[in-house]
Amino acid sequence: MSKFEQTYIMIKPDGVQRNLVGAIIARFEQRGFKLVALKMVHATPEHLEKHYEDLKGKPFFPGLIKYMASGPVVAMVWEGLDAVKTGRSMLGATNPLASAPGTIRGDYALAVGRNIAHGSDSVESAKKEIAHWFPEGIVQYRSLLEDVIF
Ligand code: TYD
Repeated sequence: MSKFEQTYIMIKPDGVQRNLVGAIIARFEQRGFKLVALKMVHATPEHLEKHYEDLKGKPFFPGLIKYMASGPVVAMVWEGLDAVKTGRSMLGATNPLASAPGTIRGDYALAVGRNIAHGSDSVESAKKEIAHWFPEGIVQYRSLLEDVIF
């Protein structure tokens, strides 16, 4: 059954460096999701270690933190029907080797260590990640799209 959800989507430093911010935002807008939070942040290693705490101990963890701290990211919250699952399918598989063309990673990335964007993998992690990146809270407004879709 479809559910109205929020998901945390983050454009990673390589996505920002490669000027893909607008293209990625456009994909989510065009799909029909509503942007409810957005900011650019140059995150500290500590903040990123908390974000990726489930991966602590993996061999790629130190390199992942270094890459994520190498420049600013664009932190966003997108809202809509099945936002978590659909956001993940729009991103494509973690390893761009397996990401289908037409997905963000399948269109823009080649290496797992530079895979452009992050998306929450469950409603529970979305809640945690939104609280972690937007402790100040997020805005509420009614978009015209909602009159069409819901
Ligand atoms: P993970 O949470 O498994 O994937 P996803 O981002 O799709 O939820 O991994 C987090 C990030 O860690 C991933 O986007 C890229 C990096 N990573 C590597 O650098 N090497 C790897 O072998 C894996 C599995 C991930």
